[in-house]
Amino acid sequence: LNSYLIDSQARIEHALDQSLSNSDVPERLRDAMRYSTLAAGKRIRALLVYAAGFATCAPVKQLDVVACALECIHSYSLIHDDLPSMDDDDLRRGQATSHIQFDEATAILSGDALLTLAFELINGSASPLSDRQCRLISHKLAICAGQVGMVGGQMLDILATQPVLHENILDRNALEEIHRRKTGALINASVVCGALCSETVSETDLASLSYYANNIGLAFQVMDDVLDVESDTQQLGKQAGADNALGKSTYPELLGLNASKQLAQTLCQDAIDCISSIGDNTQHLVELAALVVNRTH
Ligand code: IPE
Ligand code: IPE
Ligand code: MG
Ligand code: MG
Ligand code: MG
Repeated sequence: LNSYLIDSQARIEHALDQSLSNSDVPERLRDAMRYSTLAAGKRIRALLVYAAGFATCAPVKQLDVVACALECIHSYSLIHDDLPSMDDDDLRRGQATSHIQFDEATAILSGDALLTLAFELINGSASPLSDRQCRLISHKLAICAGQVGMVGGQMLDILATQPVLHENILDRNALEEIHRRKTGALINASVVCGALCSETVSETDLASLSYYANNIGLAFQVMDDVLDVESDTQQLGKQAGADNALGKSTYPELLGLNASKQLAQTLCQDAIDCISSIGDNTQHLVELAALVVNRTH
């Protein structure tokens, strides 16, 4: 990572620590929220916020709040994704999952609280965002995280995992739809909300950034599927081979490993080509697109 992205990583760690320090929260709930969120995540969504903000000349104070909100929503999604009734995983970010470390009720509640905290941060009295930015960003987050976005995608993913339905192998369009919703939507929100922190971003540039984000969002989940097959538990910090064990529909299962990796490369190259029109400050977005396809965990 270049120095801007390393600085951004330090900023998000600090901002998350601060945001999860409310002494009015029941201690066990706060402990569980901190346990999952402050663990060793890659912070890709936060970095996308900062990189999109950099590309559109947004003030960094605004970006801190939005990056925090994105990582809180993402962290909630992982806690719930790992629950016994969902993917039933016991390892996440190199440590026991929340429902193992605490218990199911605490895991569910800490996810709920992280989701609502995201909106508290955006709209709270300490928020540096203008009223207009609060409204646009809150709305974008709600759409991308919710029923037609990530939660909708998680529903489709679960339906595609039912053994009885799994006999009808998903076609490529159906799998793409799941991946775009369950993972792509929040990645889209990261980039677009970062850009919405700018007072001057044009509709045309927002459209290019959104296209970039949709491409790398799909590529991100394709590579998540690939790494589940090719990488190991130590490297991933989560159980390798989990998709196959659960009978998940994945890109490697549908297209094979090589075609999946090729697809991710093509998507990211298209993403990079598309943002070349928006000015001279896109280098961090370019670097993150490359990271999405070349990552090892
Ligand atoms: C994992 O996301 C879940 C998906 C949406 C694929 P990340 O790979 O970004 O997980 P962390 O944040 O680094 O733990
Ligand atoms: C997760 O997809 C998507 C989310 C919204 C959390 P996965 O179920 O493949 O994510 P991992 O592999 O458990 O991180
Ligand atoms: Mg899942
Ligand atoms: Mg999972
Ligand atoms: Mg996965």
